Amino acid sequence: MPAVRLFEVGPRDGLQNEPRQIPVAEKIALVDLLSRSGLTHIECASFVSPRWVPQMAGSGEVLRGITRAEGVSYAALTPNLRGFEEAQAARADEVAVFAAASEGFSRANINANIAESFERFAPILAEAKKAGISVRSYVSCVIECPYDGPIDPAQVAGVVEKLLDLGCYEVSLGDTIGAGTPDTVRALLERVLTVAAPSQLAGHFHDTNGRALDNIDVALDLGLRRFDTAVGGLGGCPYAPGASGNVATEAVARHLTRKGHAHGLDLAVIDAAAEMARAMRGDADV
Ligand code: HMG
Ligand code: MG
Repeated sequence: MPAVRLFEVGPRDGLQNEPRQIPVAEKIALVDLLSRSGLTHIECASFVSPRWVPQMAGSGEVLRGITRAEGVSYAALTPNLRGFEEAQAARADEVAVFAAASEGFSRANINANIAESFERFAPILAEAKKAGISVRSYVSCVIECPYDGPIDPAQVAGVVEKLLDLGCYEVSLGDTIGAGTPDTVRALLERVLTVAAPSQLAGHFHDTNGRALDNIDVALDLGLRRFDTAVGGLGGCPYAPGASGNVATEAVARHLTRKGHAHGLDLAVIDAAAEMARAMRGDADV
């Protein structure tokens, strides 16, 4: 494992917002290229309702169609037991449950309050344990929620603690709307680190306001070594042309190199994947 591990979420978090229905073959081509880049984790599927997120409808076909590279874990989001069973049938190497730090986002995203969401997660963890499948987790809106406003770090810490108690191997802290600044991210992490070790946490920064690299620096400073990124900065809002999405894998990798942190990625392959990703959303010349 390199000193800093990047978890590629482009084929899932990036593509899920794209307005154009992207053919399964294009998604498979992107994942296959990423598989040759040195990444150890690629999230490429999401077994959610196709009515809620139409773009992820072909997730089973994607997982069945990719050419699996040795040493790469292919991950899928699973909101409930049905999603887990479909992910398992399609041979996901690991799955992720996704919670929120705010009631407003939890309701909007998964139609459940936070307590109800944990009732859905428990059977996933039980089945995954039997099957020997690792379960990762997300907490959305760790800084600010589009419905409930700024979030108290203590509220995030409570959700993180519950996810770890449930048996998740890692909690990814989602700055879902890119509202974080170095000050608010530091305050958040200092509180969360009272309930979790740095090795149990990942930073998931959306670059909406251009602060993601600064926020990653704060997280590095506090000992975190795991970050979620998306090639080409995929994930921009379809209703805000030019808006940034997830922090770009190629930008984070170069930033880490400048700071002297090994990341194990072949930048020529990552750059080619970023170009492919941009072409998939129709802005190849950007
Ligand atoms: P619900 O309406 O409460 O559940 O949705 P339901 O059980 O009543 O089912 C509703 C419909 O979904 C039914 O179909 C079910 O069969 C179907 P219908 O009768 O309407 O045709 N259904 C499913 N279909 C496929 N796979 C399943 C599944 N389960 C039920 N597993 C539910 C609850 C969770 C299903 C819904 O709210 C949902 O799918 N939400 C997904 C939202 C989502 O994917 N959001 C994006 C991912 S989170 C994210 O991006 C943030 C993150 O990146 C971190 C960050 O940045 O903060 C992770
Ligand atoms: Mg996200």
